[in-house]
Amino acid sequence: MTGRLSIMLMCALALAACSKTPSTPEPITGGDPRAGRALLARYGCASCHKIKGIAHADSQVGPPLDAIRSRGYIAGVLPHDTDNLIKWIRHPRQVVPGTAMPELGVSEAEARDMAAYLYSQ
Ligand code: HEC
Repeated sequence: MTGRLSIMLMCALALAACSKTPSTPEPITGGDPRAGRALLARYGCASCHKIKGIAHADSQVGPPLDAIRSRGYIAGVLPHDTDNLIKWIRHPRQVVPGTAMPELGVSEAEARDMAAYLYSQ
């Protein structure tokens, strides 16, 4: 009797776990995507990254940023959420010493706007 009960309980738990939505983050940045687009162009991010909606942004130096929202990790090390994306944009070399991506002096508000634009793509 208890055996059957615990099997039923395990099934219920397994079903509950399966019905959870997939873990792709749906980040909300609070930034301004229009300002972000201008900032991505101004800071020269497009000289290393392919970025949808920005002219001549087809460089292969860094990974394409077109589908950043579906990436589980940022630069392969930071679990992807909005705060970590902002952290990376501001201080890539604090996260991965020696990375080719430079510290560009981006402010927190600017990074938030850029993230908003990237997430809108
Ligand atoms: C000199 C070239 C260069 C410039 C300029 C540059 N990046 Fe990068 N970026 C890189 C490289 C190389 C990586 C990969 C780093 C790694 O994986 O260690 C990267 C990684 C990233 C990632 C993580 C991508 C992923 O899929 O994990 C983001 C987001 C990013 N850059 C955003 C920006 C933004 C925003 C700017 C402008 C403020 C910028 N980058 C400017 C070279 C650059």
